[in-house]
Amino acid sequence: MSYETILTETDGAVTIITINRPKALNALSSVVLAELIEAFAAYQADDSQLCAILTGSGDKAFAAGADIKEMSDKAAADFYLEDFFGDWTSKIVKTTRKPWIAAVNGFALGGGCELAMMADFIIASDNAKFGQPEIKLGVAPGMGGSQRLTRAIGKSKSMEMCLTGRMMGAEEAERSNLVAKVVPHDDLIAEAKKTAATIAGMPPMATIANKEMVNSAFEMTLDQGLIVERRIFQILTASEDKKEGMEAFIEKREGNWKGR
Ligand code: HXC
Repeated sequence: MSYETILTETDGAVTIITINRPKALNALSSVVLAELIEAFAAYQADDSQLCAILTGSGDKAFAAGADIKEMSDKAAADFYLEDFFGDWTSKIVKTTRKPWIAAVNGFALGGGCELAMMADFIIASDNAKFGQPEIKLGVAPGMGGSQRLTRAIGKSKSMEMCLTGRMMGAEEAERSNLVAKVVPHDDLIAEAKKTAATIAGMPPMATIANKEMVNSAFEMTLDQGLIVERRIFQILTASEDKKEGMEAFIEKREGNWKGR
């Protein structure tokens, strides 16, 4: 499949999706969104693909935000009537049940930071910079920044980030639990692929189940989340891979997964 603003490739069971507008610091135009929706749907539909990585091309940016040039002349009524930014959550986050990692290689600002936070987790290069600078444009986050950032790093830091528009470096982002780990810039894709390959080697149904459970922690009360966890756990005990996984442990060998 060939796209105008993104690149896709596979490495074994790992899909790599790269936002490819380096001259515009990978700004998230409506074409980027439409193509990412297609690429994530293709990943989700391909049973041979078990983990995905999203990154940005070039050395400078993961994505420097929603495309300001595209938004500058748009009327408020258009933003509202199109439910502008709604598709990011409804057509990417909600429909991608398989895991995906954001490999943040530089600026992740505004919509770029928000897109990284839509991933299951973030691996950052040591030159990554995160921020919600929308306030400087007279607006505010619109793709989840005020919600996902606050859940990730807490109210005080999130509020300070949103109100000042300042950038947070990789080391602070790791300390603040925004990212899972920081790696040297040149090692970012290799490290992300290694982590993705580890995930891709896990029993696929259990992978989806683990993702669903952890995400429930963000959507539900503790009591509801604990019920979801127990029910999904109980369903997994009926899977062929549970039988295989436990037998493989006892026989001291690797599991041979069926994905069901
Ligand atoms: C469109 C962008 C862009 C963006 C950068 N570019 N960010 N184009 N949308 N979000 C373009 C620049 O216009 C420029 O194009 C080229 O990329 C290189 O950028 P420079 O600014 O020259 O680079 P540099 O001086 O290194 O500064 C890097 C930067 C800066 C600090 C990241 O580009 C920046 O502040 N960008 C905007 C960040 C931002 O505000 N993001 C939030 C967007 S709003 P030309 O053609 O001049 O070479 C958002 C949600 C808003 O995400 C919700 C509203 C409803």
